[in-house]
Amino acid sequence: MNLRDRILSLREEIQSSIGGITSAEMLEEFRLKHLVRKGTLQAMVEALRDVPVEEKPLAGKELNSLKAFAEGEYKRLKETFDNQGTAEELLDTTLPGRNAESGHLHIITQTMDEITRIFAALGFTVEEGPEIEDDYHNFEALNFPPDHPARDMQDTFHINDPVGKYLLRTHTSPVQVRVMERQKPPIRIIAPGRVYRNEAISARSYCIFHQIEGLVVDEGVTFSELQGTLLSFAKQFYGAKSVVRFRPSFFPFTEPSAEMDVTCYICGGKGCRICKGTGWLEILGCGMVHPKVLSNLNIDPEKYTGYAFGIGIERTAMLKYGIDDIRILYENDLRVLKQF
Ligand code: PHE
Repeated sequence: MNLRDRILSLREEIQSSIGGITSAEMLEEFRLKHLVRKGTLQAMVEALRDVPVEEKPLAGKELNSLKAFAEGEYKRLKETFDNQGTAEELLDTTLPGRNAESGHLHIITQTMDEITRIFAALGFTVEEGPEIEDDYHNFEALNFPPDHPARDMQDTFHINDPVGKYLLRTHTSPVQVRVMERQKPPIRIIAPGRVYRNEAISARSYCIFHQIEGLVVDEGVTFSELQGTLLSFAKQFYGAKSVVRFRPSFFPFTEPSAEMDVTCYICGGKGCRICKGTGWLEILGCGMVHPKVLSNLNIDPEKYTGYAFGIGIERTAMLKYGIDDIRILYENDLRVLKQF
């Protein structure tokens, strides 16, 4: 083997042993084998003297580059090991631990929970219903006849099923129907949940949102009881100084129907950016359960009356926390979520 080939095979050996060095001790072995005066590289330098003149330049060049490589790698690894220390030196048992970051409930869930707690304290129990509903529970039993224009108030996602009767519920009111189907009065429930509407997405509306439905049915339930209950809710949620007002509205399943506003908790009713200068915030729809809905569900409207309400959660949370674009509630950007 000529010298050049010996140098090349030494290079292979050096390269492969460098890849296997995992400790300062192994690095020292490497140094003693290759880099000291009696090491492999110096032996090659000496052998270079005896090669024929014409082979010298090429072999010399090869050897210089190998020496530079081996020394460079040695230096690099030495620095790594010097900075590392042993596992024992590194272990400082007095250092505080690194906490695993824990998540927390989404602002919508927090808001739903808070509202649920307030109504639970007022004697309401919690009910749930399916998000995939049928036309009967979402519309028909609630006194939306087929082709009635009131259906257009709620742009519906229909499910492509063979029967053509399933849809994504557009409100939590079908839970009213399901509860009245299986329970006789007295009824006093709330139903928090997710609803879907096929609306153009904007800062104010999204295709998914959440509501809390309320339903009370019993003998002698009055509109003033509805007002008193919702006023109590508003004072607990928005602050003791809050005042509410009711404006006439329309829903097929309640009569009379109203929308409730609460005094703007930011300006206290003087008028500001959040309430658009009116001093009032619109927070829910409500009304007395329509007699037709009761009789659809075999509850005698001559004997029983009831009230119902539906609170929009996103709107409530946005007003309470000063969020001006509903879409950020669904983007799950941690920088946003961490703020609440
Ligand atoms: N379901 C109605 C809506 O989504 C709100 C509502 C609930 C109104 C209960 C009256 C009674 O718009």
